[in-house]
Amino acid sequence: MAQIPVLDGESVLAAVDPAAAVDRVRLAFERFAAGEWVMPSKVYLDSPPNGDFRAMPARGEGFALLKWVTSFPGNSARGLPVVTGALLLSNAESGELVAIMDCAAVTSLRTGAAAALSAQVLATPGARSVGIIGCGVNGAWSARCLTACGYGPGVCADTRAEVATALAGELGWSAGSRVEAAAQDVVVTVTPGGVPVILESDLRSGQHIAALGADAKGKGEVELAAIERCRLFCDEWAQASAGGELSGGTAAGMVQRERVTQLGDVISGRTPGRGSDGEITLFDSTGLAIQDLGIATAVHEAWREGRVDADLVTL
Ligand SMILES: NC(=O)c1ccc[n+]([C@@H]2O[C@H](COP(=O)([O-])OP(=O)(O)OC[C@H]3O[C@@H](n4cnc5c(N)ncnc54)[C@H](O)[C@@H]3O)[C@@H](O)[C@H]2O)c1
Repeated sequence: MAQIPVLDGESVLAAVDPAAAVDRVRLAFERFAAGEWVMPSKVYLDSPPNGDFRAMPARGEGFALLKWVTSFPGNSARGLPVVTGALLLSNAESGELVAIMDCAAVTSLRTGAAAALSAQVLATPGARSVGIIGCGVNGAWSARCLTACGYGPGVCADTRAEVATALAGELGWSAGSRVEAAAQDVVVTVTPGGVPVILESDLRSGQHIAALGADAKGKGEVELAAIERCRLFCDEWAQASAGGELSGGTAAGMVQRERVTQLGDVISGRTPGRGSDGEITLFDSTGLAIQDLGIATAVHEAWREGRVDADLVTL
């Protein structure tokens, strides 16, 4: 009977560094835009009042995966992770399960990588400084991936000052206020999405904003008046309009499909990206299973090549 590797968070992070994560996530967006990788919309299972579970399947590159993951925003106050669960990777030809992985580490890498990739694709060529608003788990990985792509230094802002100070210390950046972070060239928002953290008055010409925290219905980090001023991009329209940063504007009739470009369509050259240096670009990231597939296949590859260890189980 086949033995299946179980890769914990440490092994996942040892297998794929932030620069490799950005490359793998770029590939995922390319393949998805070309129709080579497929992905139904994620399924949400509410678990009130704590948050929700998500089931996220995708197939491509000879593999299929299912990620079973939480977003329990109140968990950090209880000393528990917001994002937790497991990822199953299968062989798409035989159907056999080939790996089980910690999904929090995969999620952090692919989420941070999407923020950095959006900056590479949409920010002005001269953009360097970074503002991180919300320096928890996924805010920190966004900062690490941006650093790996040559961005920074930056300003870290968080309502928990000690978290912002720790991330700034790790990267050699500075801790600052929300307004200071929102004034940088590339601004990444990764808060629970309960209150706006980008106001219209924060915006300045040529900025790129990656809004990551609002990844379910009812969440939002950017004021509608600010969204109105931006050139809009998303990871995938069906998800973004239903439960992403753009869903508020969509419900209000302010954001229509034709106003929003999917990142993969820009990467594949099908649709233009930023129109001018002065434009403010906003990327709505809801988090796609194809991003997880990009990372999970890289982790599996590292294990097969003996670069990382894993416990083996027989099911
Ligand atoms: N788009 C994606 O792909 C994706 C992926 C993972 C998580 N998320 C979402 O991102 C959000 C954060 O997830 P996480 O795992 O990093 O959580 P986390 O709890 O580790 O981090 C959130 C941070 O935001 C801070 N914060 C809260 N309110 C704030 C405010 N008003 N201003 C500044 N900082 C504030 C908190 O103190 C905390 O440090 C969640 O809503 C989660 O669902 C999105």
